[in-house]
Amino acid sequence: MDDSITIRPLRETDADAVVALYSKAATVEPRLGPITLPQWGQFLKLPQNRGGRDFRVAERNGRLVGLAESSLRDHGGHHCRFLKIVVVPEARRRGTALALFDDVLAIDAGDDLAIQTLVSPDWPAGMAFVSAFGFARIESEIGMKCVEPLQPARTLAAARASIERAGDVTACAAEIAHIHNTAYASDAAFRLYSPEEMAQLLTESEVWIASEDGQVSGFCLTEPEQNSMWIESVAVDPARQGRGLGQVLVYHVLTAHEVSVEHPCWLNVSSRNPAALKIYRRLGFRPQHETCRFSATRGELIAARHRRFN
Ligand SMILES: CC(C)(COP(=O)(O)OP(=O)(O)OC[C@H]1O[C@@H](n2cnc3c(N)ncnc32)[C@H](O)[C@@H]1OP(=O)(O)O)[C@@H](O)C(=O)NCCC(=O)NCCS
Repeated sequence: MDDSITIRPLRETDADAVVALYSKAATVEPRLGPITLPQWGQFLKLPQNRGGRDFRVAERNGRLVGLAESSLRDHGGHHCRFLKIVVVPEARRRGTALALFDDVLAIDAGDDLAIQTLVSPDWPAGMAFVSAFGFARIESEIGMKCVEPLQPARTLAAARASIERAGDVTACAAEIAHIHNTAYASDAAFRLYSPEEMAQLLTESEVWIASEDGQVSGFCLTEPEQNSMWIESVAVDPARQGRGLGQVLVYHVLTAHEVSVEHPCWLNVSSRNPAALKIYRRLGFRPQHETCRFSATRGELIAARHRRFN
C-alpha cells in the first residue's frame, strides 16, 4: 500500500473529517477540541481565515490525517502568519506535521515574516514540535473564569456612561474597528480590522457598547454558549482609558448574563497585559489555564528545518 502523505488545500467537503480529527485529538490533548460542524463553519467565516484559503490538509491512503490552519494577519504596517497544526494521534511521528509545515512556509516569500503558534503546556507533543524548530515563547494566553461577579468601584466617568446592547451593529462597526485597532495595536495577537470586516464579525457576536455623550468609548463582544458564555473582546478607546469604564462595562455584561457557578463566564487575556489581568481579577475572574504563544521568523524556521530534518 502507498503510505505517502499528500498535502493539499482544504476543501468544503473536508468539514466532517475535520470535526472527526478534532474529536480524536481531544482525547489526547484536552481543550484542543472537540468542535462541532457549525463551530467549524463559523471559524472559517472569520474575516482573518478567508474561508480557509491558506489552510492545508494531509491525506494518507485517502484519509484526512492532519490539518494546518493558517492565516496571514495584518498588524498594521507589518504582517504575521498564524499557524496551528493538528495530526490524528494514530498518524503521529511520521512526518505529517513536518510536511504540512513545509507547505505553509512555502505560501509566503521573505525571511522576516513572523510565524506564530499557540500551544498548551498540557500538549507535550506540541511543545516538543515547536521546540524542535527553535520557536521562542513570547507570551501566554491566560484562560480566566468568573463564577461570581464582584462589583467594581463606580467612578464618575463610569456613572455618566451609558451601557447598552447594540441593536444595529453595522451602524457602530467603524467606531468599534477604530477602537479595536488603536487599543490592541501593541498586542502580539493583534489584527487590523477594516470597518467592513468588523461589521461582518459583529453580526456573529453579541455587542455591548459604553458611550459618553453619544460617542462610543468602549465595546465588549460576547458569545453565549449553552451553559456558559465567552467574552471575546473588550476594549476602551485609549484616550478614555483609566477611568473605570472597562470594569463597569464588563460587570454590566456579567450581570446581564446572570453569571454564576452553573453559568460561568470565560475569557482569554495576554500574560503581557497586567492592567487587564488586574481588572479581571478585581471583577472575580480567576486564572484556570495557560496557552503559550510561540514566534519565530520564517527565515529562522527554514534554517532550523534544514539543520534538523534534512
Ligand atoms: C504537534 C503535532 C502536530 C506533531 O505532529 P506529527 O505529525 O506527529 O509531527 P512530525 O512527525 O512531523 O514531527 C516532526 C518533529 O517534531 C518533533 N516531535 C513531534 N512530536 C513529538 C513528540 N511526541 N515527542 C518529541 N518530539 C516530537 C520531533 O522532532 C519530530 O521529528 P522526529 O520524529 O524526526 O524526531 C501533533 O502531535 C499534534 O497534533 N498535537 C496536538 C496539537 C498541537 O499541539 N499542535 C501544535 C501547534 S503547531
